[in-house]
Amino acid sequence: MPLQSIDNIRPMLPEDLDQVIAIEREVFLFPWSRMNFADSLTAKYFCRVLVQEGTLFGYGVMMNGPDEAHVLTVGIAGKWQKKGWGQKLLGHLIQHASQQHLRAMILDVRESNTGAANLYKQLGFLPIGKRKSYYPAMCGREDAIVMELIL
Ligand SMILES: CC(C)(COP(=O)(O)OP(=O)(O)OC[C@H]1O[C@@H](n2cnc3c(N)ncnc32)[C@H](O)[C@@H]1OP(=O)(O)O)[C@@H](O)C(=O)NCCC(=O)NCCS
Repeated sequence: MPLQSIDNIRPMLPEDLDQVIAIEREVFLFPWSRMNFADSLTAKYFCRVLVQEGTLFGYGVMMNGPDEAHVLTVGIAGKWQKKGWGQKLLGHLIQHASQQHLRAMILDVRESNTGAANLYKQLGFLPIGKRKSYYPAMCGREDAIVMELIL
């Protein structure tokens, strides 16, 4: 019986990786590898999954630095999107970072990913800079917008 918390969010386990990677490949054109997730677990990053009735449908990975938490990836399976789950998961990450008394949370978002950027703005993240040609894209490279939430 998989571990399931009341609010549908629990720590990611090594046995979740098949499902996590399946979602990652569904929602990202340039997905993280299994090794990226496995390394995040080994490094004890804050890795969480969303589950309902045994179905894993989302995940988030955050790395805590000395002053800031960095959200490394967030993904919600296609048919679970736009139902408030991304907001709930991000809220959980924000709560965790606040409890660690960190100054801020930082993340990168593709310039074209307006859906994700809207979600972050709604949660109080503000754009603080740009990383030129940070992401691979179908035609060349794409800039990243760096967003920050002061905790
Ligand atoms: C981005 C993502 C995590 C959002 O999760 P979600 O569960 O679909 O989002 P929510 O339902 O919680 O939406 C919350 C808010 O985000 C914004 N939003 C989410 N998806 C959006 C979209 N496709 N277009 C515009 N705004 C969007 C809206 O402001 C929304 O608020 P509203 O419902 O009051 O309008 C999810 O769509 C996803 O996994 N996308 C593919 C992977 C990805 O881009 N990850 C982020 C990388 S930086």
